[in-house]
Amino acid sequence: MLEYQPKKDLLKNKIVLVTGAGDGIGKQAALSYAALGATVILLGRTQQKLVAVYDAIIAQGQATPAIVALDLQTANDAQYQELAQLIAHEFGQLDGLLHNASLLGSLGPLEHLPIDTLETVLKVNVTAQVALTQALLPLLRKAPSASIIFTSSSVGRKGRAFWGAYAISKFATEGVMQTLADELDGSTIRSNSINPGATRTTMRASAYPAEDPQTLKTPAEIMPIYEYLMGEDSLHENGRAFNAQ
Ligand SMILES: NC(=O)c1ccc[n+]([C@@H]2O[C@H](COP(=O)([O-])OP(=O)(O)OC[C@H]3O[C@@H](n4cnc5c(N)ncnc54)[C@H](OP(=O)(O)O)[C@@H]3O)[C@@H](O)[C@H]2O)c1
Repeated sequence: MLEYQPKKDLLKNKIVLVTGAGDGIGKQAALSYAALGATVILLGRTQQKLVAVYDAIIAQGQATPAIVALDLQTANDAQYQELAQLIAHEFGQLDGLLHNASLLGSLGPLEHLPIDTLETVLKVNVTAQVALTQALLPLLRKAPSASIIFTSSSVGRKGRAFWGAYAISKFATEGVMQTLADELDGSTIRSNSINPGATRTTMRASAYPAEDPQTLKTPAEIMPIYEYLMGEDSLHENGRAFNAQ
């Protein structure tokens, strides 16, 4: 799958929502999905960054994206419902959902992990993706087939000292993915996770400030698995934890 090469119009006429679409891996996924023909709904908390991604997609002559400025830390049920109504009105269905937005929180011993940090990280990295999934499932059911992709991490598969709230949230993310996959088994919707691996982004730089970013893969280099799982070549995949590298 790491060598996967999609056909050029893999996502033609597909509506795909990407969270954290303004920066890093989410930005690249939005650009890559648009390049494969998708109409991308760009969700993130910094409007300016979303507009830059929107402009880049338009400049390539691709399908006009939509911008949803929403802070997942404070978003409430009414806002998720409003988003679902908006998508229903504009597009009628949703073919793909990439849960990508995450917070790193602070790194340090679990013994000293501030509980408010734990709660904030869990809110953005776990609770928000469950709430968003709940709101969007009726629209995902309307598509002939739909893909939900969760973003995990190496520390969401094996615990590691000092990765506290973030590691806990990524284990929970795998739990959400698996629980949903089992419930969706035999349906038209599939649920899988990706561990991007070390990737050249702002989040990686804040976790490893002394590291030379040039030694890391770029978001563009890890896209094959994101493309594979979003398109029809992965219709048979459900409940699996993938690695992007
Ligand atoms: N990079 C790596 O090496 C690596 C490794 C393993 C897993 N991951 C995972 O890959 C995913 C993408 O990470 P990245 O490295 O691309 O991180 P990033 O560069 O920090 O980008 C994260 C994106 O999420 C958005 N976001 C954060 N909090 C948000 C909130 N409350 N509401 C809405 N949007 C929010 C950010 O918005 P702003 O732009 O406004 O800040 C940003 O666009 C994450 O799930 C991360 O855990 C990354």
